[in-house]
Amino acid sequence: MSEPIATPNFIGMLLECQQDALDAVASGEKSVEQLRLELLGSKSELSKLTKQIRFVPAVDRAQAGTVVNQVKQTILQALAARGSTQSPKTALSFDPTMPGITPPEGHLHIVTQAIEEITRIFERISFTRSRHPEVDWDWYAFGALNMPENHPARDEWETFFINTTNSQITNKQISNKKRIVLTPHTSNGQVREMEKGRLPIRMINIAKCYRRQIDVSHTPMFHQFEGLYIDHNVSISHLKGVLDYFAMQFFGASRKTRIRPFHFQFTEPSFEVDVTCGVCNGRGCKLCKEGWLELGGSGMVHPVVLKNCGVDPAKYTGFAFGWGVERCYMMKAGTQLDDIRLLYSNDVRFLEQF
Ligand code: FA5
Repeated sequence: MSEPIATPNFIGMLLECQQDALDAVASGEKSVEQLRLELLGSKSELSKLTKQIRFVPAVDRAQAGTVVNQVKQTILQALAARGSTQSPKTALSFDPTMPGITPPEGHLHIVTQAIEEITRIFERISFTRSRHPEVDWDWYAFGALNMPENHPARDEWETFFINTTNSQITNKQISNKKRIVLTPHTSNGQVREMEKGRLPIRMINIAKCYRRQIDVSHTPMFHQFEGLYIDHNVSISHLKGVLDYFAMQFFGASRKTRIRPFHFQFTEPSFEVDVTCGVCNGRGCKLCKEGWLELGGSGMVHPVVLKNCGVDPAKYTGFAFGWGVERCYMMKAGTQLDDIRLLYSNDVRFLEQF
């Protein structure tokens, strides 16, 4: 075999080899010397597996070597227990004090790790993680966010709509909320959070989003995290402070953010947020061109959206931002991920590196 071998598979083969050897020793069909040759000699299964250590991922080779040695010791002990011809003193029985074989341990998917890290960062400045539907009414995903039906801005989201039958929803629901969508962004969480009527709000909503897109920087299912801060006298400087805080915590102390004017229907003014490139530290390189990488959108919540959600824009202001979890993870220094699709290809060799 010259293919790479996943560590759990390799350890599984070793354990199987050990079990076969112990069965052969216990059956008593062959002499100890014959078994020693067959089970530990240069043509033995264990010897073949030892030569395959080089196909195990480099990070796990030392662990694989330790397991090979443990299997060899276990077989030697079993042979000794059957009664070695050389010295009766070496005929040891099973040694219960020997350390056991550690089973291979997995870890959380790197996107889950990123979600947990982002949650902790915002919790430190009193944002609370909230959960909102990932399949929602068109009203929450678009209508309440100041995006009327047939507005061209809706095209940018290339949304998946759900077919519903009359038996699943009532006519009243249809007329109130229109159609059901797989949420194309987490901004529906803004509306649902404000609708609860509990002010002030410091929300962080992290959820799956769906769009009809796939290429090196887009997947049809991805995650966004949406921040919403509503209180008296909230200003753009509060927004910039939170953006800088997040960038320093998540990307490192040397990273900075900048905001550029942009357009979203649900924020006014609106901004795109960039972070200094982790590869060239903002000097400009092949990846970023001019030293900046785009993180996502942000802005001051539009008064029409506040009104739609039952919040008085004369008394309250607020900011919101929404960024991609996967994209942010790819921008972390040292990640060196140049294709977002790798995150969901389910290739254990890729995932084991993190
Ligand atoms: C939005 O989705 C706005 N809702 C963000 C927002 C929230 C603006 C609050 C203002 C206030 P946009 O379409 O740019 O904006 O998406 C935000 C981020 O989601 C992108 O920058 C990117 O990081 C991520 N993203 C979008 N589509 C995909 C995709 N198909 N695959 C992976 N990541 C994606």
